[in-house]
Amino acid sequence: MAQQEDIFKKIVSHSKEYGFVFQSSEIYDGLGAVYDYGQMGVQLKNNIKKYWWDSMVLLHENVVGIDSAIFMHPTIWKASGHVDAFNDPLIDNKDSKKRYRADVLIEEHLAKIDDKINKEVEKAAKRFGEAFDEVQFRETNARVLENQAKRNQIHTRFAQALNDSNLDDLRNIIIDCEIACPISGTRNWTEVRQFNLMFSTEMGSTSDGAMKVYLRPETAQGIFVNYLNVQKTGRMKIPFGIAQIGKAFRNEIVARQFIFRMREFEQMELQFFVAPGEEMKWFEEWKSIRMNWHQALGFGAHKYRFHDHEKLAHYANAATDIEYEMPFGFKEVEGIHSRTDFDLAQHEQFSGKKLQYFDPELGKSYTPYVVETSIGVDRMFLSVMSASYCEEMLEGGESRVVLKLPAALAPVKLAVLPLVKKDGLPEKAREIIDNLKFDFACQYDEKDSIGKRYRRQDAIGTPFCVTIDHQSLEDNTVTIRHRDTMEQERVSIDSLERVISEKTDMKYLLKEIAK
Ligand code: GAP
Repeated sequence: MAQQEDIFKKIVSHSKEYGFVFQSSEIYDGLGAVYDYGQMGVQLKNNIKKYWWDSMVLLHENVVGIDSAIFMHPTIWKASGHVDAFNDPLIDNKDSKKRYRADVLIEEHLAKIDDKINKEVEKAAKRFGEAFDEVQFRETNARVLENQAKRNQIHTRFAQALNDSNLDDLRNIIIDCEIACPISGTRNWTEVRQFNLMFSTEMGSTSDGAMKVYLRPETAQGIFVNYLNVQKTGRMKIPFGIAQIGKAFRNEIVARQFIFRMREFEQMELQFFVAPGEEMKWFEEWKSIRMNWHQALGFGAHKYRFHDHEKLAHYANAATDIEYEMPFGFKEVEGIHSRTDFDLAQHEQFSGKKLQYFDPELGKSYTPYVVETSIGVDRMFLSVMSASYCEEMLEGGESRVVLKLPAALAPVKLAVLPLVKKDGLPEKAREIIDNLKFDFACQYDEKDSIGKRYRRQDAIGTPFCVTIDHQSLEDNTVTIRHRDTMEQERVSIDSLERVISEKTDMKYLLKEIAK
């Protein structure tokens, strides 16, 4: 675990050192849980967004995209339930004066018990070697059984308290489990209180009686309120989906783990409108489509799992998360929710406008049901960085840090490197870039030894380095170095576009998931 935490710290500092992610307002000592993407980060982020967007609107002829405004009529948030119910249960430690999410404290306590159990299993596995039967051990070992029973009991109480929104019970679990503040080490806790996560601001001048508006906490509502506009103008037939990528804002109290939990972040959301009664079928279908999208990146199926929700949000009749194994454990990257007709019905009620669909096949009108897939761009970014960051020992005692990014997502696709800064090699390199820059993000680098230049490209995840030497001037060939294997081959300059595009073009990734 300590080793994993170490890796996480390295990913954070690597992200800064190579221009992926900076703390916002850094020269003013930063702004909590707000981050800026640098010159490499923005390209990686744009590629992630393109992968998602194209997989939605190009691969599904019944999915279209929109881009709705961040400001919306404040009644939308009343209708959606966010004004009344978009809360976190908070608890303060009276000695350290630190504020925590009560549910997170309990989840972390449960994770500690899980760790204890797993350590016990690991120890036994080492002791017994090949003869070890993990299932039998878990079912019979006294210490494992004791811890498992303790965990199950806390877990049942916790799920119940969340479902009932019972704040006293949440506090009682914290007291009974003897959970202490990590800062003061004491168990001197306040009551648990609800805290609304929406940011608000004023629209218009105060002399006119300014209106309180919210910064949207999800992009989904911008889709719901445009449902009829898109359905009518796009002549969409149910089932169909509306996709959107955009910023969302939440006043997160427990804002930790780098870009995992931010106050300003970006979401990629799809609302898929279906006939009532069809939602479970589509829920399963979208679970599978989305898992496939993740796994096509090649990080390994074992790095992902579904996690069904303990507590269903006020709008859902089924919900699961796709979790990715970050260096700090399996964490939610995407939520898939069957939202029933809650949102459209609420907007019908609050706006007084009908948001119905006349189904020619059924010969009747209804309020559509919705299956949602909602993924955070920043969490996806973090999972991609975590999966790709790699420290390798090389022959001769050297080492390298390499980002083994999926080539289609890499910020720079190729670096063009003249072996020396003279004899016409830089000019030849520029000529190659001038030909390829319309298709690929290229970098030119002539500084330092070729080895150092390779390392710099490895560190930002560039899949190909193209080196120009004296032979290139004679026979129009170059060496192309592959990032992951470090193998080099001599190819003709004319074939570069094909060779690079075969590996880096998003089209091939999309073809993979369209199979
Ligand atoms: N429209 C549904 C919705 O917003 P959610 O589970 O609250 O559902 C969806 O959020 C996704 O948005 C999450 O799975 C996560 O990837 C991302 N997300 C949510 N809060 C975030 C935060 N504070 N920082 C970064 N990403 C966040």
